[in-house]
Amino acid sequence: MFEEAQYFAPVATRDDGSVVVELATSHPGFADLVYRERRNAIAALALGHTPGDPIPVAEYTDEEHHVWALVSKELAVKHHKYAVREFLRGAERLGLPEHRIPQLQEVSDLLHPLTGFRYLPAAGLVPLREFYGVLADGLFHSTQYIRHHSVPFYTPEPDIIHEVIGHANTLASPRFAELYRAAGRAARRMETTEALEFVSKVFWFTLEFGVMREDGELRAYGAGILSSYGEIEEFRGMDIRPLDLAVMGTTKYDITKYQEVLFEAASFDHLEDTVGTFWDTCDDDAVTRLLSGRRP
Ligand SMILES: [Fe+2]
Repeated sequence: MFEEAQYFAPVATRDDGSVVVELATSHPGFADLVYRERRNAIAALALGHTPGDPIPVAEYTDEEHHVWALVSKELAVKHHKYAVREFLRGAERLGLPEHRIPQLQEVSDLLHPLTGFRYLPAAGLVPLREFYGVLADGLFHSTQYIRHHSVPFYTPEPDIIHEVIGHANTLASPRFAELYRAAGRAARRMETTEALEFVSKVFWFTLEFGVMREDGELRAYGAGILSSYGEIEEFRGMDIRPLDLAVMGTTKYDITKYQEVLFEAASFDHLEDTVGTFWDTCDDDAVTRLLSGRRP
């Protein structure tokens, strides 16, 4: 029932107040009742959190800390080979722990002095308008659970490795942080769902899965690529197209597979001039014009 295209496992609150994360039968942690209990408890923490209060502490097992240590070490090596400079600088400035999963409050405290961003805990899917809108206020919704320890290099859903190693290292860069804020301001201006989805798709193909030419080499800056042990090795072989707002805003993607179509910025300036300027200036009419150019 939740097999297909469920980026986030649904979270339900039962009549007795208990919180249940509904993992698909194909999820690596489906048959692990202890893991599922922990997922439920972590989701309940986020649902009970009031913005402004400290983020509740999540409990992780030694095996889970080990997953973080393993993936963090492997990704750091790959980042030096494949990530854009601005990301590497961000990672250096942020200084995430390498051997244990950081608490989200700790990530937030490291990040805030650098670019003003703070983290908020999310139980699962956050509605588009809320997720993007609060980026304008320097707030980033993040899941708190970690993938199942049986498959450390795979996750069917965004976990804390994606949210923190992918996004927090990026958000530690003032230039990237400004792009995230611009996406948030754009989302807030959008009145129709169609226009909001257009903005979110441009975000998907840039800040989640964007690639950039740097010193003649194709490098990644999208958090989805930079947090994926497998995808980071594959992106250079994908169908790479030039940055094009109308195409990015209307291209369909499959969240369950590696992204086959990627969009390349010629430089950081190019990304800011094209995508940053779009987010800074767009409104519903601008999106309608872009969409009408794509319709037969
Ligand atoms: Fe993400």
